[in-house]
Amino acid sequence: MFQKATSPLRGELTIPGDKSISHRAVMFGSLAKGTTEITNFLQGADCLSTISCFQKMGIEIENTQGRILVHGKGLHGLKAPSQILDCGNSGTTTRLMSGILCGQSFSSVLTGDESIQKRPMKRVMDPLTTMGANIKSRLGNGCAPLEIKGSRLSGIHYHSPIASAQVKSALLLAGLYADSPTSVTEPYISRNHSEIMLSSFGAKIRVKNTTASVEPNPILEAVNIEVPGDISSAAYFIAAALLVPGSEVLLKNVGINPTRAGILEVALQMGGKITLLNERLQGGEKTADLLIQSSDLQGVTIEGAIIPTLIDEIPIIAIMAACAQGTTIIRDAAELKVKESDRILLITRNLKAMGADIEATEDGMIIRGGKSLHGAHIHTAKDHRIAMSFAIASLLTDDEVTILDPECVNISFPDFYEQLYSLY
Ligand code: S3P
Repeated sequence: MFQKATSPLRGELTIPGDKSISHRAVMFGSLAKGTTEITNFLQGADCLSTISCFQKMGIEIENTQGRILVHGKGLHGLKAPSQILDCGNSGTTTRLMSGILCGQSFSSVLTGDESIQKRPMKRVMDPLTTMGANIKSRLGNGCAPLEIKGSRLSGIHYHSPIASAQVKSALLLAGLYADSPTSVTEPYISRNHSEIMLSSFGAKIRVKNTTASVEPNPILEAVNIEVPGDISSAAYFIAAALLVPGSEVLLKNVGINPTRAGILEVALQMGGKITLLNERLQGGEKTADLLIQSSDLQGVTIEGAIIPTLIDEIPIIAIMAACAQGTTIIRDAAELKVKESDRILLITRNLKAMGADIEATEDGMIIRGGKSLHGAHIHTAKDHRIAMSFAIASLLTDDEVTILDPECVNISFPDFYEQLYSLY
């Protein structure tokens, strides 16, 4: 049960580690020679799934007190798993590992929870097959479980129809095992954590416009990685502090990589008061502290190249839009339908239930802001980002809001509710 914030939100939060970067640190550390130390690793269920998959392939990984030690065995050091590899709810684990597993000398099966078994995997299976991979959907429906027989791979140049870091990263990882360079061109640039981090491990990566390329067979050497705070997790507090009158919140150590930070641009365009402090570079990733002050927001149009830089933040941006004056139009975001849930459906259904004026479109939504929100039962379909977004919406109505399956926040932000309550 969630209720209105009766006082302004005040305080300082340290945002937990970035999910995308935490996954990659474990994966690349496993493929490197030597011990990779990861600090500020995200202890969310998704990243723990990645750890457990690599442990099943013979990698020793210690996880004590927020510090992870990955004892990597080099590019060819993984062992055949004796069990099915369970990726849980994690699309990043499933798709990036597909790329890695295709080039091994053993067979494996990848699967995950109910949501993962419905998510499209042909987007990685098809280009990997062109590289020579033997990867099949067990049920023939283009979804996990995926059966992978390790094969010899050839480099390709792939023109991806979608801007997807998961597709791009899967192919670059398979490219490490290929006999010639591999490159991926996307319609717009997607998050580039793989390119940054693989380079720091010693891979030869080149990036030109929206094309990323990798040379095969590098020697990857362990490095230490300090994971910046996850801007996708910070997004809920950015919205909360902007929307609850009189609020002022400092969010410490947030990753602001431009391929991830579209929400900052949109919030500023909406009239949000956001100040970047202490900007710095951490392991090749830009980070900053963000000072957020409550603001009167205006509707905006969000489309085109900015969409991949804020795709995971659209649920919370929709809440901001519902509370803004004027109309917000979100286009070019059909990918929302194939995330942990159909997010176009769940955002519109739940915001409508709270009294907002919102219409779903084929590739986004139209929100006419400024209607007052009332209580509702929120259906999350166990999607962590829907649960957190509507927990923030609940701060803005006098009525009770019931969020179904609220514990799904554990996927990416186990301390979400504690951090939220600490602000009021
Ligand atoms: C991710 C990429 C994005 C994002 C997901 C994490 C990653 O997915 O939505 O939460 O870590 O590479 P797509 O690449 O499929 O758009």
